[in-house]
Amino acid sequence: MGSVRAYAITAAAVAGERERVGGKLDAMDLSRVVALDTLELPSPGPSDVRIRVLAVSAEHNIAHAALADTVNIAELRGGKIYPGNSALGEVVTVGSAVTRFKPGDVVVTHCNGEPDAYGYPMRIWAYDQPESVGWYSEEAVVGEWQLLHAPLDCGLSLWEMAALPLRAPTAYHLWRRAMGILRVKVSREQRAEVNVLGFGGGVSELFLMLARHEGHRAFFCSGSAERREALEKLGITGIDQKKFNRFADRDGMKAFGAEVKQLTGGIGMHIVCDMLRGPVFAAGMAVAAREGVNVSAGWQLAKQVQYDSAGASVKQLTIDHSHYETLRGCAAATELYGRVFKPTIHREVYAFEDLPRAIQEMQLNVQTGIPIIRVARELPASVRGIAG
Ligand SMILES: NC(=O)c1ccc[n+]([C@@H]2O[C@H](COP(=O)([O-])OP(=O)(O)OC[C@H]3O[C@@H](n4cnc5c(N)ncnc54)[C@H](OP(=O)(O)O)[C@@H]3O)[C@@H](O)[C@H]2O)c1
Repeated sequence: MGSVRAYAITAAAVAGERERVGGKLDAMDLSRVVALDTLELPSPGPSDVRIRVLAVSAEHNIAHAALADTVNIAELRGGKIYPGNSALGEVVTVGSAVTRFKPGDVVVTHCNGEPDAYGYPMRIWAYDQPESVGWYSEEAVVGEWQLLHAPLDCGLSLWEMAALPLRAPTAYHLWRRAMGILRVKVSREQRAEVNVLGFGGGVSELFLMLARHEGHRAFFCSGSAERREALEKLGITGIDQKKFNRFADRDGMKAFGAEVKQLTGGIGMHIVCDMLRGPVFAAGMAVAAREGVNVSAGWQLAKQVQYDSAGASVKQLTIDHSHYETLRGCAAATELYGRVFKPTIHREVYAFEDLPRAIQEMQLNVQTGIPIIRVARELPASVRGIAG
């Protein structure tokens, strides 16, 4: 089948970089860990599709894999992983049993690695799904079930679309769960418009776009002026997280509480999307409205949380944990590209060779939006008009 260029993370590279910086994770340079490699593509089976990858988005789980801060996934997977669980590509060939795609179609991948009995992912593709190979590569062989048509006429550029295959379904899932839970407690008849808070990050931004689209009041608490500004254009109120010292001390927490009170007329936030945990979790719980719901599918700053169960009971708060979407949910989320999901992307579209730098700059938190990497030099005619 031939080999293609693809990025890999090895346990040896993780260990070497950890040793170089004396175990200080903050000092790690992830561009020294994520390295260009080659990948032997398997021969496609009857239900497989071979795609040429056009563009990918840098996802935060690559940073987790390269840091080995949550789990050492490269080591657990036998010493090496090929990362990349979101891609936009062009179909090159299809197996004899494939019915939904044909050569030339432009597609997006989803990363639900193994659906459980109800469709929820037990594992994530190119992360903890055994044997799964990721899409930071020039070409890939995937199952038909892993693909969706890219909505090329949705109004987004090719690069904006590439920001969404992983983050949009995650946000969609978090939103439908959060709203469903809130409505068990407070009906639409009792309160139509609710207050929704999201803390910085691409998933939270999309979550807030859903909230705003459905007519709710949405607030984005982030440290980035550019990202707040982009959301303010969509009617989402920005809150500067750095004004509160990112909740590192009591004064910051108190001041944040006072600001949210003032912004919501003393009511607080009915729905909070966290994704980071650590100090952000306590801040989100502190500003919850009565009957509030706190949702998260991420643990960027900490895996463990602590809360006052009695206090949460008295306020009727619900904490919900979710992961990625079901296959049906991924398809539904893709319908909303452009109409609801209008992602802010980083001003530089990185070249394939610069992918390690994109990951390191994401880790340093210096990007003005979601980082996109162009993989294919030559783009198919069908997308040239939206490649910007
Ligand atoms: N389970 C799933 O299916 C799933 C799916 C997607 C992502 N995730 C996880 O969710 C987390 C967030 O992902 P993402 O894609 O939304 O993130 P992202 O776009 O990479 O952004 C992370 C952002 O966190 C923000 N942030 C907010 N408060 C922060 C604080 N106190 N300290 C440091 N940074 C802070 C930073 O923005 P500001 O500087 O603007 O505040 C940064 O841009 C990651 O851990 C990721 O792995 C899970």
